[in-house]
Amino acid sequence: MKKLIIEGNKILKGEIKVSGAKNSVVALIPASILTSGKCIIKNVPNISDVQNLIEMMEYLGSEIKYIDDTIYIDNKNVRNETIGENFSKKMRASYYYMGSLLGKYGEAKISFPGGCVIGERPIDYHISGFEKLGSKVFIENGDTYSISAEKLVGADIIFKKASVGATLNIMFAAVKAEGTTNIINAAMEPEIKNVADFLISMGAKIDGAGTNKITIEGVQELGDGEITVLPDRIEAGTFAIMASLLGDKLTIKDVNKDHINALLKKLKESGVKVKSSKNDLIISKCDNLKSVNVKTDVYPAFPTDLGQPMSTFLTQCEGISIFEETIYENRMRHIKYLNEMGANIKLKDRIATIKGKTPLKGKEVEATDLRAGAAMLVAGMIADGITTITNIEHILRGYENIVEKLSKVGASIKLVDE
Ligand code: EPU
Repeated sequence: MKKLIIEGNKILKGEIKVSGAKNSVVALIPASILTSGKCIIKNVPNISDVQNLIEMMEYLGSEIKYIDDTIYIDNKNVRNETIGENFSKKMRASYYYMGSLLGKYGEAKISFPGGCVIGERPIDYHISGFEKLGSKVFIENGDTYSISAEKLVGADIIFKKASVGATLNIMFAAVKAEGTTNIINAAMEPEIKNVADFLISMGAKIDGAGTNKITIEGVQELGDGEITVLPDRIEAGTFAIMASLLGDKLTIKDVNKDHINALLKKLKESGVKVKSSKNDLIISKCDNLKSVNVKTDVYPAFPTDLGQPMSTFLTQCEGISIFEETIYENRMRHIKYLNEMGANIKLKDRIATIKGKTPLKGKEVEATDLRAGAAMLVAGMIADGITTITNIEHILRGYENIVEKLSKVGASIKLVDE
């Protein structure tokens, strides 16, 4: 069992570099299936989700080389296979093979996707979108989606709520469909544009990615593709939160500031001074933080994936902060551990009332999901004494070389494998 052991209250100084975005690369790799050619994906983070996706690609017949931070993919021998639960349960993003295999072969069979337990996470928009494009969808053996289409034909697809996964899955199914597909109320997260740019490099015709209306003209063939994974805005935001509490001019490198505007606005509102130059942020700790209210929502609003680490930050703000999570029903399991460490948080459904400022004390806590793990990391780093975080496989799924990166800037953190 792997654990992180942190000795708190160490100042963070120097430079920390942001890696490529997890939520982009986990869609880029399955997207590559759409071509039988070769693809190059640069700036790939070495995280366990990427390793698992590479195994899935190899299972489908793809030849992959992962050298430094670049993945070289050769899909000439790829075939359509059922993706069983040994693969699908490892991560949510396994569901991107629904769209990409359907888009390529007109058929996909894949066991129900896994991923962090943060809410019900239905995929009804994906399914009804595939149906609108001409597919039939069945559930086989109670646990496998079987999706097939004699012919995929473009359609207008209107989402009730903007969904990252559904927007990309429909894009994958539509790039080679006959005619035009319009995705209305599309998700606008930066990862959507990064993935669309990859498909465009292969020859896909996609317009409007990054806005709430995406138009896709089906093409018959796709060729070789190349893309650089955009910087991970959630990792950048997590480092910005840490720097606001512990930084001594900590420089966060490779940040797209526009992508974390909502977070920077809240940090500044609470008193943090953020300096920036080109792609870097320079942040020092602020000792008299003021309470702020934070409500998560779809991009460009405050991201749900930063809500949990932000709630740890709010325990250090003077006064009462209200933190509301609107995307997932069950993304507050970390609050219990913050309270055990000394926070004063009252939780009602998805609303946390956080009374600060409260010192935190080191304890054994659990990373109940990926971003809960990030919240515990921040907590351990500001707590007095030693914090042990268990179940850290969740953290390793999403944060590249986290121990090395944080140690290099002054944190006292080690990974033990018992
Ligand atoms: N929704 C539906 N039906 C659907 C699809 C979504 O009701 O068919 C609802 C969801 O229940 C949720 C909301 O719509 O309330 C948004 O879900 P979305 O589909 O956007 O989420 P996702 O694609 O499953 C991705 C990221 C998440 C991130 C969200 C929101 C990946 C692999 N996952 O999930 O990342 O929280 O977008 O930005 O890209 C994480 O990195 O920790 C993480 C959970």
